[in-house]
Amino acid sequence: MASTTRTLARALRTTRPSSLLTSTARPARFLIPTQTVGQQHQYQRRSYASSPDDKEKFDGNPSGLIFGATALVLGAVGYATYTQKPEWFGQAAKVKGPFVPRYEDYQKVYDAIAKELSEKDDYDDGSYGPVLLRLAWHASGTYDKETNTGGSNGATMRFAPEGDHGANAGLKTARDFLEPIKEKFPWISYSDLWILSGVCAIQEMQGPKIPFRAGRSDRDLSFCTPDGRLPDASKDHTHIRAIFGRMGFNDQEMVALSGAHALGRCHTDRSGYDGPWTFSPTTLTNDYFKLLLEEKWAWKKWNGPKQFEDVKTKSLMMLPTDLVLIKDKSFRSHVDRYAKDNDVFFKEFSDAVLRLFELGVPFVQPEDQRWTFKSSFD
Ligand code: HEM
Repeated sequence: MASTTRTLARALRTTRPSSLLTSTARPARFLIPTQTVGQQHQYQRRSYASSPDDKEKFDGNPSGLIFGATALVLGAVGYATYTQKPEWFGQAAKVKGPFVPRYEDYQKVYDAIAKELSEKDDYDDGSYGPVLLRLAWHASGTYDKETNTGGSNGATMRFAPEGDHGANAGLKTARDFLEPIKEKFPWISYSDLWILSGVCAIQEMQGPKIPFRAGRSDRDLSFCTPDGRLPDASKDHTHIRAIFGRMGFNDQEMVALSGAHALGRCHTDRSGYDGPWTFSPTTLTNDYFKLLLEEKWAWKKWNGPKQFEDVKTKSLMMLPTDLVLIKDKSFRSHVDRYAKDNDVFFKEFSDAVLRLFELGVPFVQPEDQRWTFKSSFD
C-alpha cells in the first residue's frame, strides 16, 4: 500500500502540471495564494530536488498541486484502510447490513402506543384499548389449522375484501389510530404492529403480561381470507366450538378468550348490538364472568338484534354467544373458575391470547425467547 502511494506521488511529481491543467482550466480550488506556493516550493526543493534539471521539471510552479494531490491520495488510502480494516486502528470492526430491530426497538414501539393510548382519551369510554385488542383478535382469528391459512401473519385486513367483512366493521378506527406509529417506526410490519398494539392494550388496561414474538410479515391481498371465519354473535355452542376449534382451541381456551368482553362495548353502527358488558370497560378484570353468573339477564326489548340486558340496571349487555357460556356445562365449569379467581383467569387468558396472536406465523424467534414488555406503570 505504501509503495502504491509512493509510485503515485512520484508520477505526479515528474509530470509537468502545465500539460495536465492550464491555469485557465484549473479549478479555483487549485489557485493557491502565491506565497504559500512559494513556501511549499522551497520545501519541495530542500527535501526532494537533487539535480539541476529540477527547475525545469517544476516549471509551472507545481509543488502546491503535488503536495495537495499526495495528501489526497494518502487520505483516500488511509480512509479506505480505516473503513475496511478498522481493527488496524484499534477500533472494533463495525457490523454492517440492514437494520435488525431488537427487543429495545419493539419496547419503543410499545411505549409510543401506550403514550397515544393515554393521551387520546376522548374516545368511547376513554380509551382506544378495546378496539385495538379487537383489531389484533380479528387479524388472528381468521386462522384455519387444516389449511394453515389466515392468522396474524399478513395484516390482510388492510385490503378491501377482508376490511369490508361485516365482522370487521369499525376496525378502521383502530388501524387509523396506529398509522402515526407506523410512520414513526417504518421498519415494523403492520402485522407485528397490530399484534403488539393488542399486547399493549391488554397490559395498559391492567391486564396480565402477554409475551410477544416478532417476525410477522405483511402480505398482499391474495392472502385475504374468505368471509365467515370470525364468530357470529347470534349463534350457539356448536358455532362457537366450530369457529374456535378451527383455530385449534379447546373449551377452556374459548372461555378464557371470551373474558376479553370485560373490555369495550358494542356499537349500533358497527355490529348493530349496543352497550358495554361491564361497568369498567377500560380495565381488564374477571367481572365479565362474575356478572354473567351474578346478574339476571333478560332479552332486551328494542328494535335491534337479539341481545340480553341486565334486569337490575338495564345498562349492561350480553350477546347470545356470551350467555351460551353459562348454559353449556363444559363452558360453565370454566366460567365458574374464572369468576372465583382473577389470578387464574389472568394466567389462562394470557396463555390463550399468546397462542391466538401467534396463529399461522412462521417465527424464527424461538418459543423460549419471547419478549415481555414493560408497561407504562411498571
Ligand atoms: C364467540 C366469540 C365472540 C363473538 C361472537 C364476539 C362478538 C363481538 C361483538 C359483536 C362485538 C361488538 C363490536 C362493535 O359493535 O363494536 C365485540 C366487541 C369486542 N370483542 Fe368480541 N366477540 C367474540 C370473541 C372475542 C375475543 C376472543 C376477543 C379477544 C380476545 C374479543 C374482544 C372484543 C373486544 C375487546 C371488543 C370491544 C371492542 C370495542 O369496544 O370497540 N371478542 N365482540
